[in-house]
Amino acid sequence: MNIESQFNMIAEEYDINRRKFISCFDDFYINTTAFIAANIKAPKRIIDLGSGTGLLAYYWFKHFPESDYLLADIADDMLSVAKRRFQGLDNVSYQTSDYIKELPAVPFDTVISALSIHHLEQS
Ligand SMILES: C[S@@+](CC[C@H](N)C(=O)[O-])C[C@H]1O[C@@H](n2cnc3c(N)ncnc32)[C@H](O)[C@@H]1O
Repeated sequence: MNIESQFNMIAEEYDINRRKFISCFDDFYINTTAFIAANIKAPKRIIDLGSGTGLLAYYWFKHFPESDYLLADIADDMLSVAKRRFQGLDNVSYQTSDYIKELPAVPFDTVISALSIHHLEQS
């Protein structure tokens, strides 16, 4: 089964299980984001590569609600959950794509990513 199918299959349960699988959840998502945010200027556009359900972007959004966000992921069902999370916000957009093959074709000044590149296969 490819990575896209694997994540499409577990998309709806993904958020509920995060705290179980990431024992240092607060440090990993919340405290690191707060530390970085305290040390940079507000980005214009943030792209989240392998955004999944938008968990990491959610914590960035708390610090930078005015920035534009582009959430890119290969698994459509993961992005569907992200769309519910950010429903009604017009500064958050989505792209279903494989970041190995293409990067978002919009200007951006900040790239974030969590727990995604370890899925890449060596070539
Ligand atoms: C473990 S999840 C992490 C999601 C999110 N960043 C988080 O911290 O909760 C990994 C995500 O990376 C995505 N992904 C893996 N390889 C990808 C690729 N080549 N292009 C785009 N997305 C990819 C998967 O579909 C999945 O949603």
